[in-house]
Amino acid sequence: MNNYDQLKETVQKIKDSLSIVDVISSYISVKKAGRNYSALCPFHPEDTPSFYVFAETNTYHCFGCGAHGDAINFVKEYEKVSYVQAVKKLAAQSGIQIELEERPEIPELRLNREVAVAYSDTLMNLPDSSEIWKYLKNRSIDRQAAKEFELGFSTGKEVMQVINKSDFKVELAIRNGLYNQNREFFNNRLIIPIRDNNGDLSGFSARSIDGSSPKYLNTPETQYFKKGKILYLYHKTKNYIKQNDFAIIVEGYFDAISMYRAGFKNVAAVLGSVLTKEHAFELMKSTNKIITMFDSDEAGRKATLSSIDNLCAKGFQIAVAKYDEKDPDELVRSNQNKYIAELLKKSYKFHEYIPHAYVSRYDIQNDFGLEEYLKEMSVWYKKFTESKRFEILDTFISTIAQITKKRDEIIEEIIKSKIQTLNFKADSIIQNQQKHQNLEKEIRYDFDRSIIYLWLKYDDYKEKLNELDSGAIDEGPAKEFLRFVNEGKNITQILENGSVQLCEMISQIYLIDSFFEPGKIYDALKMTFERKTFQKHIDSLKNKLKGTVDEEERAKIALEIINCISKQKSLGGK
Ligand code: CTP
Ligand code: MN
Repeated sequence: MNNYDQLKETVQKIKDSLSIVDVISSYISVKKAGRNYSALCPFHPEDTPSFYVFAETNTYHCFGCGAHGDAINFVKEYEKVSYVQAVKKLAAQSGIQIELEERPEIPELRLNREVAVAYSDTLMNLPDSSEIWKYLKNRSIDRQAAKEFELGFSTGKEVMQVINKSDFKVELAIRNGLYNQNREFFNNRLIIPIRDNNGDLSGFSARSIDGSSPKYLNTPETQYFKKGKILYLYHKTKNYIKQNDFAIIVEGYFDAISMYRAGFKNVAAVLGSVLTKEHAFELMKSTNKIITMFDSDEAGRKATLSSIDNLCAKGFQIAVAKYDEKDPDELVRSNQNKYIAELLKKSYKFHEYIPHAYVSRYDIQNDFGLEEYLKEMSVWYKKFTESKRFEILDTFISTIAQITKKRDEIIEEIIKSKIQTLNFKADSIIQNQQKHQNLEKEIRYDFDRSIIYLWLKYDDYKEKLNELDSGAIDEGPAKEFLRFVNEGKNITQILENGSVQLCEMISQIYLIDSFFEPGKIYDALKMTFERKTFQKHIDSLKNKLKGTVDEEERAKIALEIINCISKQKSLGGK
């Protein structure tokens, strides 16, 4: 049994030795409800209990917000401590010895976290009569809401304050984009701290409150702040997204804040951009249904279309909510919740939205205009077929037919003929095929990538991969990956605990839309495994040779080595 297994076993012992009912009732008051216990959920505001503790399975579940877990999770979430700290706490209660080391917080993230606290302190210490509080009041943000969203204010001194009272170096602040040419990057602005999808404080946005430009100043892209990956508020709302089984995606920070406060908590915002494939990777852990509510201007319309473009190949069910106001922030400001809920319900499926979204750009009463319009539609039709979204093609065609007042069959025929004559010239298709082939080679001839690819994309191969002799593999992303898999970790947990190299490889592979022949990849892989096993054998023979003096014995070993090498050569692979 290795170290990790031992730890796992000890953690399990700790859990088994404690009753979750005792643990939870030491924090909140629980009532017996049949065989189980219920309570007001400590993780979301509510008036009637939807939080249940199950004594038999030693777990809790909230039917209101989706909070769920074991005693360790509860302590972790309730006390807002790390997993390790929670285990230590419970170990002490159960009297079981366990040695655990805390993974130290990454300095960049710790600095951001402390600076966010300093910005928040500045804001909270300012009087209601200050410009910033007048501004916030205008936007219906009171002190409690400011606290909830960790809002702050910068006077241009907070970063240095944090540095002066701790062990941080200015270089770190520069690297974090907080400090630049002897000045703090944010000054005289409302600060919106941005946590990444795991809840780490990875960057900031700062809104001007005096009309100065730019409206929002953002942390530049850093290793930890990647706009194309982060969804604002997602770390806080993913449970609600899971619970509702759909995500509302908006464009701006205040749109997300306002929707959340209005009770539409399954919301997250792209950071003023569009939904990317990286976002899709995050979202798919919670749901495959998305309602976009981007701004109702031209930029919002474009963002909606590119988001659909990026996500349709990932199999998402995307719908678009339409409204008259400028953005969701104003929608909330001027309407009742019931109206907004209705509007969400009436949102357009993406394949119905797209035909409508292009109509205003072309005069479809005019034959030439109609032709241009149908050309645009054929581009999308092609996209849908390439993404294998065959299930929506009929509705897509009939929506276009309704708009243009033509018969479905005619539209289908025109679109199909357009696809032939459009810009997708023969050579671009050939280029695409070339790209596909190159990518397939990159996977097939890379040991680590091929293992991860098969595991991620083909359930059938998971078992076969487990059968391979992982002892033969050198340390690397694949070995790390298989180790996690053997520990029973799922993909989310692997991303949480894996090395940077492994996580990057997983996300790169995840983003591949094409499917390659898994059989061939597996065969190549198996060959490589055999080669590696031989190599290990050869290495051990070489070692044996070194330690042998008897010439006759040495000759025997040498011959065996030669045989092995020649067998290995005949195997192929790498
Ligand atoms: N944005 C940005 N930089 C800018 C302008 C906008 O990063 N100079 C991003 C922000 O994430 C912002 C989003 O784009 O939240 C939407 O921009 P916009 O619609 O202009 O702003 P609102 O969200 O409506 O902001 P506000 O309500 O504060 O005016
Ligand atoms: Mn706005």
